[in-house]
This record gives sequence, structure tokens and C-alpha cells, in this order.
Amino acid sequence: MYTDLKGKIAVVTGGSKGLGASMAERFGAEGMSVVVNYHSDEEGAKKTKELVEKAGGKACAVKADVGTEEGIKALLDKALEEFGGLDVWVNNAGVENKAATDELSLEDWQKVIDTNLTGVFLGSQCAIRYFLEEEKQGSIINMSSVHEKIPWPTFAHYAASKGGVELFTKTIALEYADRGIRANCIGPGAINTPINKEKFDDPEQYESTVSMIPMGRIGDPEDVAAAAAWLASDQARYVTGTTLFVDGGMTLYPSFQYGEG
Ligand code: BGC
Repeated sequence: MYTDLKGKIAVVTGGSKGLGASMAERFGAEGMSVVVNYHSDEEGAKKTKELVEKAGGKACAVKADVGTEEGIKALLDKALEEFGGLDVWVNNAGVENKAATDELSLEDWQKVIDTNLTGVFLGSQCAIRYFLEEEKQGSIINMSSVHEKIPWPTFAHYAASKGGVELFTKTIALEYADRGIRANCIGPGAINTPINKEKFDDPEQYESTVSMIPMGRIGDPEDVAAAAAWLASDQARYVTGTTLFVDGGMTLYPSFQYGEG
């Protein structure tokens, strides 16, 4: 628990399930108020709202497309209206689909870039504008991936979006460091979330993923939520422009684990 987080206000995009829901719940446990954004899963967002409240925080659910300026504005408006401010903005909404690059449609490319990268730009910009106006030392957390570093065949659009998120985040961290605004990424590896359900339900794919994780297990959403709480807190006040990988070692060239090479 981080006592300075109590009473703080956060926006979490893509909060209806998975990592977003888990981060929102953890923020609730820290005594925070959370605007839980969702795109289409209203039921999921309602559940997250309940989780936040049960954990001890306050929450409201807001439907919005984070790839649009109106959608992003609706989230800030709600944070101000409902809770009276903004301290932490988490750009978490993300999508992925598998397609060989020679078969990848422009539509799928665009969808992934709009949500994963343009959404991060618009959300960050909105938070930065508010923090500047209010002279607030806010924190921005962008959900990246191990694939900001690791190339991922048949997910080129996804990897491109995450590589973009990394350098975008470093750039804004540098641009606004002198105003006390911090911006960091979390780079999850393979985590037990709905986005991965189909894959991990297949024993073969599950085993092959686990074999790429030096710590030998798939991560839990709570592992990522713990990183988000720390990055949001004052304990991370000197941390900006970095990616905190939460991946059980997946980015450490696992094929060398036992001295191969
Ligand atoms: C993806 C997961 C994948 C993991 C490791 C994440 O960014 O969302 O689907 O299992 O990277 O490859």
C-alpha cells in the first residue's frame, strides 16, 4: 500500500477486463477514485466498478473510443465532474490479432494502431494538458509489452504499435520532466488475461509460452497492477521515461538460460 495514493484520481482505459480491471481494482485498494473506461463490454466495466468499490475506492464506468479525441475528452470530463481532478492516467486499452504480414489488411493494421498507439498519444496529450494547466505533477502510465523490444512475426502491427508506445513515452517523459510530469511504460509478458484465453486454453500453446519464461509461469494480472500502483505512487517520484517489464524474464533471451550459445 502507498499512503500517498489515497484520495488520488485515475483514469484507466480498457478497464472492463484483464489488466485494466486489475489495475483499477488495485487503485481502489489504495483508496483511489477511478474512471473505468470501456469500449463495448459494459457488463465487464460494471464488474470492475464493483471491484474497485469493494476494494475501498470509488469508481464510475465510461464508454468511449480511446482512438478519438471526443472519447478521450469524455474520460477527463468525467474525472473532473465526478471526482474533481486527475492525478494518474493509465493508457491501457489495447487490441491484437494474428495475421501474416503479407495477408494483414489495412483495416486490421489501422485498428491496432488507432487503439494501441493513437489512443496512447491522445490519452497522454489530454493528461499532459490538464497537468500543465493545473501545474500538477501527474503520472502517465502507458501499457506497452515485451513486444516493444521483441519482434513478433504474425503480429507486426501489434509490435509496431508497442515499439511506438515506448519511444513516444520516452519522448514525452523528456519533454515534460522539468514540469514534474512523469511518463513510464509497463511492459507485460504473457499474462493470464482474456486476450490470451484462447491461446492458453490450448495445452500446446500454453506449454510453448511457458517455455519462453525463465521464471516458468504465466503472469497474473495482479503482478502488473502492483507495478502500476508503484509507478503511480510517490515511491517512484524519480522514475520517468522507463519501461518496467513485468514478464518473468521473457525479455532476457530465455534460450540462453542454461549457458547455451
Ligand atoms: C501479448 C500476449 C503475448 C505476450 C507475450 C503480450 O503483449 O498481449 O498475447 O502472450 O505479449 O508474447
